[in-house]
Amino acid sequence: MPVALVTGAASGIGLATALRLIHDGFRVVGWDREAPELDAPPGTFAGIAGDVVERADNETAVAFALDSFGSLDAVCLNAGVTGSGPIDTFPLEDFERILAVDLKGPVLGVRASLPALRRSTGPRSIVVTASTSGLGGDPGMWAYNAAKAGAVNLVRSLAMELGPEGIRVNAVCPGPTVTAMTSRLREAAPGKARELTAAIPLQRWAAPEEVAAAIAFLVSSQASFITGVALPVDGGVTATTGQFRPAAGPR
Ligand SMILES: NC(=O)c1ccc[n+]([C@@H]2O[C@H](COP(=O)([O-])OP(=O)(O)OC[C@H]3O[C@@H](n4cnc5c(N)ncnc54)[C@H](O)[C@@H]3O)[C@@H](O)[C@H]2O)c1
Repeated sequence: MPVALVTGAASGIGLATALRLIHDGFRVVGWDREAPELDAPPGTFAGIAGDVVERADNETAVAFALDSFGSLDAVCLNAGVTGSGPIDTFPLEDFERILAVDLKGPVLGVRASLPALRRSTGPRSIVVTASTSGLGGDPGMWAYNAAKAGAVNLVRSLAMELGPEGIRVNAVCPGPTVTAMTSRLREAAPGKARELTAAIPLQRWAAPEEVAAAIAFLVSSQASFITGVALPVDGGVTATTGQFRPAAGPR
C-alpha cells in the first residue's frame, strides 16, 4: 500500500484529502498544528502535530511516516492560512505569517520528503494546495495572492527540476470552498459571499471533497504524465475574461 503525507489534515480540504486517499488505498500520515484524529480503518492513518513553518517539524513528520508505514510515496502540502487588508495598513507580521505557511511551508515539505520520495517505488507525486488567488489579483488580497502565486511557480519550477527523476509536482487551485477558512466570511459578510457565488459559473462553492478528489487524481498513477500543472477546481471562475457575470453577457 502506498503511503501519503497530508499537511493541514485536521480540517477542511486536508481532512477530506486524507479520507479520500485512505479510500483510494493509501496509508496516510496527517499532520497539523494539533495531531489530527480521523475515523479510519485501523492501520490506515497516523496523526502527528507540528508547524509546517518549522524545518525540524517537517523532518519529524517524514521520519514519523517512515517509522509508521515504512515508505513515503506521495506528499500533499495543503496547510494554509489567509488574511486580507489594504496594502498600507495590513500588519506586516500577518503578511510574513501568510508567506511562511503558504509558501515556505511547501518548500520545507518538499525538501524534507525528497530523500524518501527518491527511494519510493510508488506514485512519487507532490501536490500543493495553491488557490485561484495564485492565478490572478483580488482587491485587499495581495498578501495571500502573492503567497499562492509563489506556490504556483514553485510547483512549475520543481516539476522541471524533479521531472527527470520521475517525481511529479502539481498544484490544485481551489476557488471558494466551504471550510473553516471561509466560515468567517460566510457568517460575517454574507453579501460578499453571495457576490463570490454570483461570479462562479456553477453558481455554488466547492465542497472540500471535490477539491480532495482533484488532489487524489493528481497524486495517483492516473495522472502519471501530468506534472507542472496548476489545476483550477473552481466551478469555472478562472474561465472568464472578467467582462461579464456568468450568463449575463450578450446572447
Ligand atoms: N477554503 C477555500 O475557499 C480555499 C480556496 C483556495 C485555497 N484554499 C487553500 O486550501 C488549503 C486548505 O484550507 P482549508 O480551506 O481546508 O482551510 P482550513 O482552515 O479548514 O484548513 C487549514 C488547515 O491548515 C492547518 N494549518 C495552518 N497553519 C498551519 C501550520 N503552520 N502548521 C500546520 N498546520 C497548519 C490548520 O490548522 C487547518 O487545520 C489552504 O492552503 C488554503 O489556502 C482554500
